[in-house]
Amino acid sequence: MSTKKTVQTCGKLYWVGEYAVLYPKQGAIIKNIPIYMTATIETAEHYQLASDMFDYSVGLEPDASYALIQETVLVMNNFLASQGLSSRAFSLSISGKMEKEGKKIGLGSSGSVVILTLKAMAALYELDLSSEQLFKLASYVLLKRGDNGSMGDVACIAYEDLIYYQAFDRQAIKKMIEAMSLEQVLAADWGYVIRRITPSLSFDFLVGWTKEPAISKDMIKLVQAAINPAFLAATQEQVLLLEQALTVGDKVAIKASLNKVGSLLADLSPAIYNEKLKQLRSASSGLDSVAKSSGAGGGDCGIALAFDQQAREIIKQRWQEAGIDLLYQERIGQNE
Ligand code: PMV
Ligand code: MG
Repeated sequence: MSTKKTVQTCGKLYWVGEYAVLYPKQGAIIKNIPIYMTATIETAEHYQLASDMFDYSVGLEPDASYALIQETVLVMNNFLASQGLSSRAFSLSISGKMEKEGKKIGLGSSGSVVILTLKAMAALYELDLSSEQLFKLASYVLLKRGDNGSMGDVACIAYEDLIYYQAFDRQAIKKMIEAMSLEQVLAADWGYVIRRITPSLSFDFLVGWTKEPAISKDMIKLVQAAINPAFLAATQEQVLLLEQALTVGDKVAIKASLNKVGSLLADLSPAIYNEKLKQLRSASSGLDSVAKSSGAGGGDCGIALAFDQQAREIIKQRWQEAGIDLLYQERIGQNE
C-alpha cells in the first residue's frame, strides 16, 4: 500500500461527430492518441497535490487551479467509502501537460486529469476500475463541476481505444447527481453507448498540428447557435456510416463519410475552418486520402487518413509547406 505507483492517460482526437455529440443520442467517433500524461502517487501524512501546470502544490484546502483534481479526490474517496475502504492521505504528482513549443497541442482535455487522478487513486488502493466505471466516475466529477462538454473525450480516454460514443442526456444525469447518492448514480443506466471499433483495412492515420491553440469552450459558444436538427441528423447518418465502413473495410465509404462531415462542419460556422485547417484539409485533394479538422476547430489539430504510400508522403509534404506539423502518425488495422 505504501509503494509508489505510476499511471498514465492517453490523448484523444475526434474523427467525426464533433458539435453534434453535444446533444443526447448523437454519436461521435474518437481515437485514442498514445501521447501521455503521467501521475505518481504514494501514501503520505497529508494530502499533497502537484501538477506541472502550476508552480505550487496544495492539499485539499479550496484552490481554484486545483479544484478539478480536488473534486476528483473527494468523489473517489466517496466511491472508496462505498466499497468499504477507508480513505487515507497521499501525495500525487501529475506531469505531461500536452504542449509543444509552449503551446497546447489540443490532444488533451480537462477530462484527462480527472481520469488520471482516478486511475492513480485506484492504483494506490489496488482497485481494478473498469473502463465503464472510470468513464462514469469522470463524467460525474465533470458534471458536478458544471463542465458542459459531451464527455466524448473522457469516454475515449477511459477506453483508450478507437470508439463510437453516443451521448447521454447530461441534464437528466445532473439532476440525478443532485438527488441521489454516488452509488445510486453509478448503478443507474445513463443511456449512453460506447463501442470499440476495429477497422478491418489498413491505412495511415496522420495528425497535423496547426500550432494555433483553440479553446473548445469558446468555440462552442461561437458555434452553438448554428447547430440545427438538419446538421444533427446528417452528421449522425455519416457517423454511423463511418463506423460501419471502418468495420467492414469499405475505403470508398470511409472517405465519403469523413468528407461529408468535414463539409457539414465547414458549413456550420466559418470559425471552424480557419486558414490553417483549410490548408490541412485541401492537402488530401487528388490523392487516395481524406482530411478534416478534428474537434472544435478554429486551430489545434486536424487529421488525415491516407490509403497509399504516395498519399501519405504528399500530404506530409503539403502540410510541411503550409507550416503544419506532423504531430503523430499511426498505421491502423495492422494487427488483425
Ligand atoms: O477540440 P476538442 O478535441 O476539445 O473537441 C471538442 C468537441 C466538441 O464536440 C466541439 C465539444 C465536446 O465536448 O464534444
Ligand atoms: Mg480542440
